[in-house]
Order: sequence, then structure tokens, then C-alpha cells
Amino acid sequence: MFSQLRRAAVVVATGVLLSGAALHGGAQAAPTTTDEAPSAQLATLREAASTSGKFIGTAVADHRLSDATYSGIAAREFSSVTAENVMKWESIQPQRGSFNWAGPDRLMQFAQANDQQVYGHTLVWHSQMPGWLANGNFGATEMNQIMNTHISTVMGRYQGQINRWDVVNEAFNEDGTLRNSKWLQVLGRDYIANAFRAARAADPDAKLFINDYNTDGINAKSTGLYNLVRDLRAQGVPIDGVGFQSHLILDQLPSDYQANLQRFADLGVEVVVTELDIRMQMPSDAAKLERQSQQFARVVQACLNVSRCSGVTVWGFSDRDSWVPGTFPGEGAALPYDDNYQPKPAYNGILTAFGGDPGGGDPGPGPGPGADCTAAYQVANRWNAGSVVDVRVTARQALNGWAVTFTLPAGESVTSHWNTQLTQSGTTVTARNVAHNATIPAGGTLNFGFQTNSGAVYSAPVVSLNGTACTAATG
Ligand code: XIL
Repeated sequence: MFSQLRRAAVVVATGVLLSGAALHGGAQAAPTTTDEAPSAQLATLREAASTSGKFIGTAVADHRLSDATYSGIAAREFSSVTAENVMKWESIQPQRGSFNWAGPDRLMQFAQANDQQVYGHTLVWHSQMPGWLANGNFGATEMNQIMNTHISTVMGRYQGQINRWDVVNEAFNEDGTLRNSKWLQVLGRDYIANAFRAARAADPDAKLFINDYNTDGINAKSTGLYNLVRDLRAQGVPIDGVGFQSHLILDQLPSDYQANLQRFADLGVEVVVTELDIRMQMPSDAAKLERQSQQFARVVQACLNVSRCSGVTVWGFSDRDSWVPGTFPGEGAALPYDDNYQPKPAYNGILTAFGGDPGGGDPGPGPGPGADCTAAYQVANRWNAGSVVDVRVTARQALNGWAVTFTLPAGESVTSHWNTQLTQSGTTVTARNVAHNATIPAGGTLNFGFQTNSGAVYSAPVVSLNGTACTAATG
């Protein structure tokens, strides 16, 4: 654990220069650790995870790093980062022998400035290959050279700085046989062992992983992977860990998730949840988001319960940047922050599973301890065929974009609204900020209003801010 001072010294000593936005992007950008504020509760994911010796990671999208809100959350909440794309073959060696280090170097500097581990992703994969490699007509000797050169060049550049690497990615078919990739076609099944040997030679300090998806429960695919890892270890091939991507679907978290991690751990390898997201059919709603929160928590709990599980990485943190909607049409909302970078119930699910305190940290001005927000829902005017409602929400933490939700009695519809973009779906109303009131300081109050088609008498509903219920206030 580094203190703020020591981290500052690291940044200066290594001459790392980040863009102003990345380093000084508002209050959120400052990295925090438990030893900075001894009295604070475990209020960030990385603080909470560190108490169990686990890392909590995120995939980082290179093109988002210049955004202060994005980089601020990435720095504050996560102790490990994985390049979402910029360490893949097509990005790093787009032409044969010509390497592109700009993106990877940016991530390394970001990680160093924020006292984060880096998880390397990925060296040998059938997907996101550059054209020259995918379409080239190479014999086994040349293909083997190409593979070894890529591994030694990429791992060599970051030797000693990347402590885990996905050496081989997605090598399996769903039935547990090896995927018929170009690697298998040209090199035969030994390509896997050879890749691991080349990786060990390139950086003896890095832990070497094989990573895959749909291997999260005990099934044919994960058993194929299990048998391979067992055999490779028996043959003395240097493989140290197994990554479970865990691109999960809401309500389909395998019941044997933890048992599956444990059977790999029992082979003596480290296990990591490498690309966690939990997608759902859109639109999302409060019930789905609550179940999602519980399922994120179960994944974290599984890692906590398996001592050889070293950490959990989410595949991005905000729904705004997730690969899910573009890959699985009609699905989304798979990550712990919403499109406006506000934490969803899933954030609290992860935090509390790690033993953190959702209401922790600096209470600041505004609502008292324990409450993230207080809400005043006032029917300002009421007549036979209409009512006017004024809503004020005071938030403990600063907001950069917000969504306030509540329900109306069945049959009651919003007919007009102000100082908000408002949508109604059945009885559920979602009121989002407009441009001029997106930013609310810590302890500040947001305010909007609306008119409905009914003057029915009713009591104030529960009002939620960004998925968390607020304490009711009067006046
Ligand atoms: C995805 C990225 O998130 C996308 O931006 C990209 O277009 C495609 O790849 N398994 C993996 C990851 O190992 O590298 C993939 O990432 C998601 C599936």
C-alpha cells in the first residue's frame, strides 16, 4: 500500500507525464488508498478488495482515458487495469515487424501513476489478428517464429511491469475440443505449450494465463480446459493461471461457479475473473438491476471463497463504454456504472461483497451519515384533473449526470415536465438531468418538476437517485 506522498514520489521519479485531464480531472481523479484517510470507511472498490488481498480490475478503453470523469473513476475505484484493445495483436503489430506502443504505453503510465497492477491481454488469439497474419500463407517454422517474436517483443518491452499475461486466449470450442484457429491449423496443438514457453523466457516474473469464455461453470468446454491445464502442468509447461472471462447473462450465473474455480485452483494454478459483465435484455428496470447486483456479489464472493483466486476484473465499468450492446443486440446494462457514470446497484453489490461500506468515506455536507440522498417530493398543486409535483433531491456525493426514479399510481401519466428529461414506462418514471443541471456539487440539491393528468390523492413515493433509494425529507 503506497501513501499519497510515496505515490507522488513514484510519479516524479519515473518522469511519468499524464495529460492534465487524466491526472487532474477534478476531485474524482485523485487516487485514494486506505492509509490516506485512516478514519474513512472502505468506500471504494479497491480499498475494500485490498482488505482481502484481492485485486479489483477494469478493462480500460484507450480512447476514453482523456475524459476526466472516466479516468477519475478508473483511478479511484480499481487496483488493476487491462487494456480492452490496445495490447491485442492487430493493434500492437499491425504490420509485420512494426510495433505500435502508443496505447499500451499510455496504459502503463496511467497504471503507474495510480499505483495499479496491469493485466496483459492478449498474445495468441484467433480474433483481432492483423490482416498480414490472418491472411498470410505461412509454414509451421515461419508461423512459430512469428509467434515467438511477437511474444518476446511485447512481453520484453514491459518486462517486470506486467505481472499477469493472457498468453493464450479462447483456444476452445464449446464441446471442449481445441478451436480450429490458424494457430492450431498451422502449428498443431503444441502451439499452446510453445507459446507458454516463449512467454516464460520473455518475462520470467510474469504469471502466465490461459483465458476463455463459457468456462464459468462445470461443462464440456471448461472440462476440456481443465484437462489441458492439468496435462500441461504434468509436462512441466510453465502455465500459472486460468482466466475466466465471465461474460455472464442475468439470471444465468452457473450455480457451480465457485466449485468450478475451485477445481482449477486445486490443480495448483491461480484463478482470475478476467472480463466480468452481466448483461440483460433491455430495457433494464429496478428489479433486474437489483438481481444483477446480487449476481455481481456472488461472483465476488466466489473469488473471496477460493484462496487461489487473486482478483476480479470487470470488462469496463460504465454501460456507456461496454462492448455488450454492439455485440449482443437488444442486450446491455451489463456493468456497475450507468451511462452517466453513476454507480448502479451492482456497484454496491461488488463493494459490499468485498466488505466495503456503500455509505462510507467523507460524509461531507448534505444528508447525514448513512444516507446517500434525501428526497423531498411535494405535490405543489392539485385539482380534479391534474397535479403539479416538485422534486428536490440532495445528494451526499457530487453528481455528474443523474437519474431519479419513482412510481406513480396506475393510470396517472406525466403530461409535461421541466428542468428534466423525463420518461414514463408503466408506473415507473425516470427523470434525468438536462445539460444545465447535470453537475451537482457534494451536498447540493437537484430540482425538477412535472404535471400529471390526475389529481388523485397519494402519498410521496420512494425516490431513488441513480438506483439507490433516498431518505424521505419534508419541505
Ligand atoms: C472485445 C472488446 O471489448 C471490444 O472493444 C472489441 O471490439 C472486441 O473485443 N473476449 C476477449 C476480449 O478476450 O478481448 C473481448 O473484448 C471480449 C471477449
